[in-house]
Amino acid sequence: MKLRHYLQFRDFSRAEYDYLLERARWIKAQFKQYQPHHPLVDRTLAMIFEKQSTRTRLSFEAGVQQLGGSAIFLSTRDTQLGRGEPVEDMAQVVSRMVDIVMIRTFEQSILERFAGVSRVPVINGLSNEYHPCQVLGDIFTFTEHRGPIQGRTVAWIGDSNNVCNTWMQAAAIFEFKLHVSTPPGYEVEAERAGIYGKTHCEHFADPMEAARGADLVTTDVWTSMGFEAEDAERKRDFSDWQVDADMMKLAGPDALFMHCLPAHRGEEVSAEVLDGPQSVVWDEAENRLHTQKALMEFLLLGKAA
Ligand code: CP
Ligand code: NVA
Repeated sequence: MKLRHYLQFRDFSRAEYDYLLERARWIKAQFKQYQPHHPLVDRTLAMIFEKQSTRTRLSFEAGVQQLGGSAIFLSTRDTQLGRGEPVEDMAQVVSRMVDIVMIRTFEQSILERFAGVSRVPVINGLSNEYHPCQVLGDIFTFTEHRGPIQGRTVAWIGDSNNVCNTWMQAAAIFEFKLHVSTPPGYEVEAERAGIYGKTHCEHFADPMEAARGADLVTTDVWTSMGFEAEDAERKRDFSDWQVDADMMKLAGPDALFMHCLPAHRGEEVSAEVLDGPQSVVWDEAENRLHTQKALMEFLLLGKAA
């Protein structure tokens, strides 16, 4: 089988995503019925974390175990990576001992360097630029609640961060409209977002206008991991970019609310919205498990017959 990696959303085609969404639906149904599904017996996942995580670690670790495999957790703090061993050397060694690798790190270039010499598939578990596993789970969640996302409108309110960039790539692949509203000075950089050609994205100076009529309103923290030094400045700059009940009213009663979590109630989202009836954040978190199981199975075994 040809070696494939999942480093950013545009690494897969629409047809591959259609397969993955359907496969994740089947894997989720099996799991809910306590039906064993063990295609990855004797396979080992290495998870390398340079940043903190709750959902990503748990969903990958539980996911590979539920598929019959096992997981090894490695962090910067307790590996030689934290003492300056080159990423390429780490990749040579790790990829000779395990079957698949997931990495959460800083610059996307670190992932690319690792994947460049890895003998096994590498998955991006979040970088400064992208969070593809998140948006895969989010699109699965939207589809469960509302059917296909093609032709719908998604509003991104807030920072032009890793999750925003990934939604932008997804808009072109899944052909939905993406309304993006960021404060001045935090606009999307097309090259960093990895978007080329027809983007399906529109920028709105006013976050309320971005949300008007949207089928899905989504946001994320004002300060992502690695940008903590800018926290005070960001709190000032983003204060008008909170998803609140008035904004959800403009979107409409059928609009969903999503947040990749962890969330800060009273900052990027009001408690009323996060804990309210339009919010599907807990489904979103759960679906990381099912979609990543489909992803690992696909990268290791290809499409199920
Ligand atoms: N959404 C997400 O990736 O959560 P963690 O940072 O907890 O992994
Ligand atoms: N944008 C956030 C996502 C956390 C899951 C961050 O990078 O910290």
